[in-house]
Amino acid sequence: MPVHSNTSLTVLGLGDMGSALIRSWLTAGYAVTVWNRSARTVPKGATPTATAAAAVSANSLIVVCLLDDASVRATLGGIDLTGRDIVNLTTSTPAEARALSEWITARGGRFLDGGIMAVPSMIGVPDSGAYVFYSGSPEAHETHAAALSVPAAVTYVGADPGFAALYDIALLSGMWGMFAGAAHAFALIAKENIDPVEFAPLLVGYQQAMAAYAYGTAAQLAGGDYTEGVESNLSMMATTNGTLLRTAAEQGVSPELLTPFMALMNRRVAEGGGKESTTGVVDLLLR
Ligand SMILES: NC(=O)c1ccc[n+]([C@@H]2O[C@H](COP(=O)([O-])OP(=O)(O)OC[C@H]3O[C@@H](n4cnc5c(N)ncnc54)[C@H](OP(=O)(O)O)[C@@H]3O)[C@@H](O)[C@H]2O)c1
Repeated sequence: MPVHSNTSLTVLGLGDMGSALIRSWLTAGYAVTVWNRSARTVPKGATPTATAAAAVSANSLIVVCLLDDASVRATLGGIDLTGRDIVNLTTSTPAEARALSEWITARGGRFLDGGIMAVPSMIGVPDSGAYVFYSGSPEAHETHAAALSVPAAVTYVGADPGFAALYDIALLSGMWGMFAGAAHAFALIAKENIDPVEFAPLLVGYQQAMAAYAYGTAAQLAGGDYTEGVESNLSMMATTNGTLLRTAAEQGVSPELLTPFMALMNRRVAEGGGKESTTGVVDLLLR
């Protein structure tokens, strides 16, 4: 019989993230049943099972943290999910999360999807800034609010099971843009007598200041006028891009991380958007 308890749960997955989640619940006094496909170190105090089915049968709250959607389906296929609340913390696409929700609901379970906005070392650490986007069954979210808030703060973004993944992937996608810019900046200084460690605070400070630019983009998207409040017009920025590209050539750095975005800026200028900011690029991506 499953344990319907506020202080016990099952975790499927003993990878880096699954193990961090398990340790946080153990530290908080939860009884944790765990399963992993292959032999891995079991955090001290957790109870391992030989099969995923045995782990699922042990508790009503089942947290899944595996590699991808395919591994979740491979693991849960054929297991009785009646009365189980499946909380999937495996990174997936919105469509995968919605399909998984239907698949689990049809088998008698409730479904919550989660997108973890943290790395394992931030899990269970107060004030680390870690949080998890959740979406899906409001009842499951309410039932397990206390347990889910143990590893990281909870940000519930609605009943649509695809929304947690969408918010998660939107933020991750924004992160790659930032990392790409940092990679290009470090490449520019790499052949000079400039210490990257001393350069890093300058780069971080500027990226942090420029990140707030997204508020202006959001206001323009909401208002519909992409020239509202513009103080760095697109025409000027597209011209400055020539200087960025010549500098890359002088320093022997491939411009390949920059040119896709610059091409979109040029296209928007060519279409008459020279007095705008970069907000029109969003429209170009949607065409
Ligand atoms: N680590 C991070 O910084 C981080 C941050 C946010 C979100 N996440 C997300 O958390 C999830 C887990 O990440 P992780 O860092 O724990 O990855 P990981 O250390 O590589 O662990 C992967 C886990 O998935 C299992 N797995 C892989 N293929 C499987 C299959 N076909 N059937 C059953 N189990 C399978 C592995 O089992 P075996 O041990 O048997 O291979 C292992 O338990 C991912 O979706 C990731 O995107 C990770």
